Amino acid sequence: MPRNAAYRLPQPLFDEPTFSQGRPTPDPTRFRVPHPSDAELYKRIQGLLYEDVVPFPAARGTAADLYELSTALGPHGPEETAAVARAGRIVFHMVGDIGASTAAKYPGELRVSDRITNDIRTSAPAERPQFLYLLGDLVYDFGEAQYYYDQFYEPYRDYPAPIFAIPGNHDSFVVPGTPSAQAPLVTFQRNFCATEPIVTPEAGSLHRTAMTQPGVYFTLDAPFVRIVGLFSNALEDPGVISSEDGKWAAIPDYQLDFLTAQLRRVTSDGFSGALLLAVHHPPFCYEPPAGAPGAGGIHQGSPAVLAQIDRICAAAGVYPHAFLSGHAHNYQRFTRSIRFGSSGYQVPFLVCGGGGHDVSSLVRAQGGAAAPEPADGADVSYLDPQPAVPATRLVLERHDDRTYGYLRVAVDAKQLRFDFYQVGTGASPSQPADSVTVALASHTVVAGSTTAPAGRRTEGRRSAGLLRRKR
Ligand SMILES: [Fe+2]
Repeated sequence: MPRNAAYRLPQPLFDEPTFSQGRPTPDPTRFRVPHPSDAELYKRIQGLLYEDVVPFPAARGTAADLYELSTALGPHGPEETAAVARAGRIVFHMVGDIGASTAAKYPGELRVSDRITNDIRTSAPAERPQFLYLLGDLVYDFGEAQYYYDQFYEPYRDYPAPIFAIPGNHDSFVVPGTPSAQAPLVTFQRNFCATEPIVTPEAGSLHRTAMTQPGVYFTLDAPFVRIVGLFSNALEDPGVISSEDGKWAAIPDYQLDFLTAQLRRVTSDGFSGALLLAVHHPPFCYEPPAGAPGAGGIHQGSPAVLAQIDRICAAAGVYPHAFLSGHAHNYQRFTRSIRFGSSGYQVPFLVCGGGGHDVSSLVRAQGGAAAPEPADGADVSYLDPQPAVPATRLVLERHDDRTYGYLRVAVDAKQLRFDFYQVGTGASPSQPADSVTVALASHTVVAGSTTAPAGRRTEGRRSAGLLRRKR
């Protein structure tokens, strides 16, 4: 339990959001709540991880509603967002898969959270990130309330800005026998989808208030950028965002109507900023081509999710400038070239799931055959065999499956830029290991990294067969 579990704070404690402790505190060195191994539990429920989806409630409000950054910021939000608009640029963080499920993983999580926190504290005012957006899998292994303190609140105790999140499979899968009131998505919603900025029991004595997102799917509206976040449910693979015409009867189709309404609104509002789509399960995840030795990593892509999104985008005549995902515990940046309307779009698909939980290889041995690691720049169009929009090419531009890392995103009126920063031995806190810039008006990549991340080889290395337990 949290340190002060016996002491329940009066509610509401604050009448406005509070985003950090206000002063740095020494790093914790261990969990407050012992986290026993879930290895035996995994053996019992392995099959369910690919079968048991979860229902979820509709987000508050209407499908076309936006959740404003200024709302999350509280009473002075309008002034703060007006200042960002006047500065002509917004910067923010994104990362997925942060939670440390064992004591051995805790230093990894803390390294990332402290680096991200330090980044916001040391940035020049004009470059100061305005928020952190978590791409799912916050609390392992099954989103238990008693682990929110150790795996979320304490590592990010000094992050002095709002933290938004979409849930991942680890924040939503229900272990059989779990009382409904303790279902992980209930806990997630208590901490991220509250109706007012209260301090939850999971936060213990820390000051961070619950986020007030309208639901587990929502559109964050900020100066220069909208982030459409979808919940891709509880399976290890694949991601699922709808019932898929009855295949997953327990899942409502709210998100299809939501996405349609949000894309239409881009047009009706005349919104000309960056449109990002965030979904925990990545549409694309590297694996070797058919017939090649070895296999992909521990996760696969989710083509059905992408096909549904593509079809809705085509109907609305609006396509995101980039897709953001976690789930795979590494970094992968693809560029998908599509024909959209009469134009050619280049759309980055980024996987940034090395947020502290683990780092895992893109490839693994299979049948005694080691897998060659892909060369950056490889044409992987075979990962997009039946696109629902006219896709002409898919390229794995860059990857990193050896270090933790996070994204720093910058958007102005004309461009969207992603910088991937490594976190680990020898990683530079000031030089991104990968970057890509997208021109908003043309949906084309205008700049990207051309050199390999420091200390990394990009081809020729062979996997030692890093098959790990599914998670
Ligand atoms: Fe995941």
